[in-house]
Amino acid sequence: MTDEPGARPVVSRRRLLGSLGVATAGLAVAGVASAAAKDTPASDALGDIVPFRGDHQSGISTPAQERLQMAAFDLTTDRVEDLIGLLQLWTVEAELMTRGELVGPPASSPLSPPRDTGEAEGLPPSRLTVTFGFGPTLFEKDGEDRFGLASQRPAALADLPPFAGDELDPSRGGGDLVVQACAADPVVAFHAIRNLARLGRGLVVMRWSQLGFGRTSSTGASQVTPRNLMGFKDGTNNLKLEDTAGLAANVWVAPTDDPAWMRGGSYMVTRRIRMLIETWDRASLDDQQQTIGRRKDSGAPIGGTAEFDPVDLSAHSATGAPVIPADAHIRLAGPASNDGQRILRRGYSFTDGMDLVTGQLDAGLFFICFQRDPRVQFVPIQRRLSRQDALNEYIVHVASGLYAIPPGASPNGYVGETLLS
Ligand code: HEM
Repeated sequence: MTDEPGARPVVSRRRLLGSLGVATAGLAVAGVASAAAKDTPASDALGDIVPFRGDHQSGISTPAQERLQMAAFDLTTDRVEDLIGLLQLWTVEAELMTRGELVGPPASSPLSPPRDTGEAEGLPPSRLTVTFGFGPTLFEKDGEDRFGLASQRPAALADLPPFAGDELDPSRGGGDLVVQACAADPVVAFHAIRNLARLGRGLVVMRWSQLGFGRTSSTGASQVTPRNLMGFKDGTNNLKLEDTAGLAANVWVAPTDDPAWMRGGSYMVTRRIRMLIETWDRASLDDQQQTIGRRKDSGAPIGGTAEFDPVDLSAHSATGAPVIPADAHIRLAGPASNDGQRILRRGYSFTDGMDLVTGQLDAGLFFICFQRDPRVQFVPIQRRLSRQDALNEYIVHVASGLYAIPPGASPNGYVGETLLS
């Protein structure tokens, strides 16, 4: 139970259904009342509801949950009416799922499929957030303007350039539409993606999907900093939801930015980064700490004593060498090397079994970041990292995605309405 803003007490799916009535699961856009998903901290309690509607979509500055299921889809229709209908349907159903309700059309008889796939029944809402985005190919694909949207493509949604060392598999990146489902319970996140895919059948095909099993970032000051698969605390110097000025400057598309339909939205970059775990595990502790620029135990910057000590990039040892090495990850990724630019990181650890050729684990960081304009944020940061970062010895970027994340749905509207109405 919690009385914090932006969160509601734990209620099981079954109890919610009893009290709210399953008949609300209509296919039209329902005027469901809900609190706005502003930059207010939500409780971390299991089962709380994170409001779906608001100025911004949830799942960006709302506290990062433990589990991720993300999927990208390609549209198989070229009718803009189909796209609008799909986004209206997805909006209604996603909101129902964030409230812990069943989804899908009512079964007409026991001989037809049941309304909901059922695996999340009885589970609490689990702070599910569902975040929708549009890939560059929605606006233009193979030179074709399928939906009449080419003129609306944001300049900030410019294709990412190639980076040194990239080994990208196009079948694991891109996509016309993307859906990020995050929850405290992996079944709830999986259920969300599965049911949206089911409801989209005939209009979309899934292009790729990624499961993340542990958050690698904190997005709120009250969250404990998690560790990534390299064993280091990750998210210490991230933008946090309490820093509303920092979010306004670095994450949200501002009221003065163009195009107008993106105001209140953001841009998401995803990178599937494989870690060469076996190589990393053979590196000495000292090497590992010099690579990141922080201590492995406390997370303190080298030269500091506690995790949140300021990073002193100007400190030099008695021999004149920089205390935080010139090629350390935090030196090159931080704002001092990048014209003050910051990003909101919200990634997850992943593992997809093992590489059958090498016998090594296929595991790493599914990097996700949000920003106001990737051209001046992710791109210059990653350009610098790809050329100089000491971490490159231990990682390889194997898939990439770039998406415009429209603003949140209004009380009676749908996600994407500002673009499509
Ligand atoms: C597998 C790949 C990566 C690993 C293991 C990793 C790990 C880390 C760790 C341990 C920290 C220090 C703690 C913190 O402040 O959060 C950090 C900081 C940071 N990382 Fe990464 N990172 C990876 C990829 C990336 C990429 C691709 C980017 C962006 C293009 C990035 C951007 C940042 C930024 C901006 C910081 C904060 C630096 C500061 O202001 O002090 N990281 N990362």
